[in-house]
Amino acid sequence: MIHSKKQSRQVSHNLIIGVLVSGRGTNLQQILDEVESGRLHASVSVVISNCGSAEAISRAKARGIPAIFIDPKAYAATAEYDRAILDVLKNHDVELVVLAGYMKIVSSILIEAYRNRMMNIHPSLLPAFSGLYAQRKALEYGVKISGCTVHFVSEEVDAGPVILQAAVPVEESDTEESLSARILAQEHQIFPKALQLYSDGRLQVVGGRVIIAEG
Ligand code: GRF
Repeated sequence: MIHSKKQSRQVSHNLIIGVLVSGRGTNLQQILDEVESGRLHASVSVVISNCGSAEAISRAKARGIPAIFIDPKAYAATAEYDRAILDVLKNHDVELVVLAGYMKIVSSILIEAYRNRMMNIHPSLLPAFSGLYAQRKALEYGVKISGCTVHFVSEEVDAGPVILQAAVPVEESDTEESLSARILAQEHQIFPKALQLYSDGRLQVVGGRVIIAEG
């Protein structure tokens, strides 16, 4: 929940998170590690994948977390698929949805149900280089600084109120792989941090912008 400014200070609670994934799952792993070590005051109640072979599923199962593959092919439309996801999220008491490398467009069904309660991570400094291959696009454009962004999810893809960003300088010698690796290291820093801010009730969305209350 987004707390009001008055409530916002030091209101840490055990935030229940649901994570949507499609692939490798290193961001999920980082979140699980920080939960386990007690650095992140939250718990992950369910992981949902739109891809049956996602490594992220094994990462969740290794921690004893329910990990569910929901096959998009079994649904005629995205709205129906998202309704099925919503049911699972509700059954697992999810307060905050985390898109951690979730490669499917989210419909208004989910966005409205979790307005300002759904976060995504993107490997660029948004609004630059939204969409796929953000790191490649940054290299091709020749920017000297790229990075990553955690934002609340809105109807527009890779848009929505920005919560945290981290800058990553681009080196002359960078390849897509080397830049992606340095950006990923920063993703692993800022995603759990954004979740902790939320858990502490320090995030407020005002006029489309995120205000972070002092800790
Ligand atoms: C990350 O680069 C993230 O920014 C993007 O998808 C990738 C997911 O990586 N949205 P992982 O599955 O968390 O390892």
